Amino acid sequence: MAPETAGNETQALSNLLQENRRFEPPADLAAAANVTAAAYDEAAADRLAFWEGAAERLTWAKRWDKTLEWNPPFAKWFVGGELNVAYNCVDRHVEEGRGDKVAYYWEGEPEGDTRVLTYNDLKTEVAKAANALQELGVGKGDRVAVYMPMIPELPIAMLACARIGAIHSVVFGGFSAQALKSRIDDADAKLVITSDGGYRRGKPSALKPTVDEAVAECPQVEHVLVVRRTGEDVAIGEKDIWWHDLVDRQSDQHTAVPHDAEDPLYILYTSGTTGRPKGILHTTGGYLTQTAWTHHAVFDLKPETDIYWCTADIGWVTGHSYIVYGPLANGATSVIYEGTPDTPHRGRFWEIVQKYKVTLLYTAPTAIRTFMKWGDDIPAKYDMSSLRVLGSVGEPINPEAYVWYREHIGGERCPVVDTWWQTETGAVMISPLPGVTAAKPGAAMRPLPGIVADVVDDQGNSVPNGGGGFLVVREPWPSMLRTIWGDDQRYIDTYWSRFEGMYFPGDGAKKDEDGDLWLLGRVDDVMLVSGHNISTTEVESALVSHPKVAEAAVVGATDPVTGQGIVAFVILRGSVEESDDIAADLRNHVAKTLGPIAKPRQILVVPELPKTRSGKIMRRLLRDVAENRSIGDVTTLADSTVMNLISEKLPSAKQED
Ligand code: WT7
Repeated sequence: MAPETAGNETQALSNLLQENRRFEPPADLAAAANVTAAAYDEAAADRLAFWEGAAERLTWAKRWDKTLEWNPPFAKWFVGGELNVAYNCVDRHVEEGRGDKVAYYWEGEPEGDTRVLTYNDLKTEVAKAANALQELGVGKGDRVAVYMPMIPELPIAMLACARIGAIHSVVFGGFSAQALKSRIDDADAKLVITSDGGYRRGKPSALKPTVDEAVAECPQVEHVLVVRRTGEDVAIGEKDIWWHDLVDRQSDQHTAVPHDAEDPLYILYTSGTTGRPKGILHTTGGYLTQTAWTHHAVFDLKPETDIYWCTADIGWVTGHSYIVYGPLANGATSVIYEGTPDTPHRGRFWEIVQKYKVTLLYTAPTAIRTFMKWGDDIPAKYDMSSLRVLGSVGEPINPEAYVWYREHIGGERCPVVDTWWQTETGAVMISPLPGVTAAKPGAAMRPLPGIVADVVDDQGNSVPNGGGGFLVVREPWPSMLRTIWGDDQRYIDTYWSRFEGMYFPGDGAKKDEDGDLWLLGRVDDVMLVSGHNISTTEVESALVSHPKVAEAAVVGATDPVTGQGIVAFVILRGSVEESDDIAADLRNHVAKTLGPIAKPRQILVVPELPKTRSGKIMRRLLRDVAENRSIGDVTTLADSTVMNLISEKLPSAKQED
């Protein structure tokens, strides 16, 4: 886990990038903000009382007896409390007179293919689906694997599971049969919910054949419930049942029984680029408390007037927490989009913002850098004056991408909230508050009220302002993972063994002179150059701050002189021609921005970067290229041809000095 160190000498993570821009919260937003600076003081004075207040935003069938039971590293929150997550997300809004309010505007990828679901509609659909699951013999504690495209039946299936206390395990629809099989096996799921397929890049893309392949080797699966989405031919075998045959004939009445606050809600396997996937276990009371509160606080959600759109796939934790559970618990109106941002044209996202008058947008840096690459003229064609808060998640956002997002999407009026969290944390942990924080481009700023995070050195000592090191969380939080499914020891070893009594997420971070936090990427990616630990994030941000660069990925490659040498892969902006002096130009630019120590040894201009389907750069593969090795396992790449494109570029590698 720890970054390599030179001999016995330990070296803190270098703090190279200086950034002086600040963006104050808009005055009108600040004046009406859901959460003010007082929340930090309240939480600091009494953290547990603060989280109790957040829990009180939910409807409990039975109030908890004890807020936190902490047997490190095992936490129980709201002990003795009982609630039903689906009731909180759906029924209570109907009972309180908001049944006609839209829960989801669903936008299929084929243009004109849309559905609108009110909270009334959602209640009906979830009740029927819950009855259907029970008819199939699914009960409390049973595991249900869900492998679906971004269609309304996906959140409906999740809520139906939650309602009856079954544990869903959503597997991203882009994963292979092998990946699906191993997740079905690990969770021992008895039911799989899927569809014939979904739409992707203008074409139907089948899912059912992948499920057939996986389930053929999973005897524990009793049934496969299949939604008809594309209408393409699929094989219907003995275990298969059409959703419309089973669900449509169910009663629309279903009584939600309360579940214990610590009953499991779901398992979600981390998308980790190495090792066996880990089944991250989340439970009900604490998880819903923190997802709902953070959605209310970080987006300043006004459920009566806001239209919220999170562009993530529901197959990732971002979709679980901020398309399904958080927004629905808050009674929000959300947009769900099925497809890709370039179908049928590169303005599709902005067309959707314009069409639904989206006010709150939550997306990822990888998408933002892609939009930068496509050009400013595309978003400029759309009316996006409805937007008021912009969010970012998934990776460090480079200052240039942040500023571009603010300017070209947010019209320079919307605060950008850079939200740091993980599958394991369940909900946002470190983020600006849009009505409070004078945000710095590229910084996640401060732990949210109620979260105690810090940056420590190798020995676990808090680093002073201006220092870099390891991000840790010092106190348990409500939506924390409870364990790794079926493997408590791995939970302890992975997250709680690096630093005594602290949660270690695996990320590097620094505190600037004001004590604000900057995330520096995974510590496994940190480079050791002439005795300095240098973060890939800082060098990538320096490269992206050059006007010709759209995207950059940096790795450390073995170097006989310096230990590791910095090798940078860059994608140029749409209009820029590759020229002979570009490499020298960029190397000098980095040296000027960060100092000579960070000057890349080598710059490679490439057409694409290898990314996982969740948009994370696979540096492991780039290290293989940089060290002239044969390229390792590419099965989790979004596009497996990318590595060929990069290898073809190798002869033109520009090595200097
Ligand atoms: C890892 C978690 C959080 C939901 C989506 C990803 C990186 C995430 C940020 C951010 C810098 C970030 C971290 C983290 N990450 N958000 N705002 N700034 N890094 O969930 O797949 O579990 O990945 O993503 O490295 O540990 P995930």
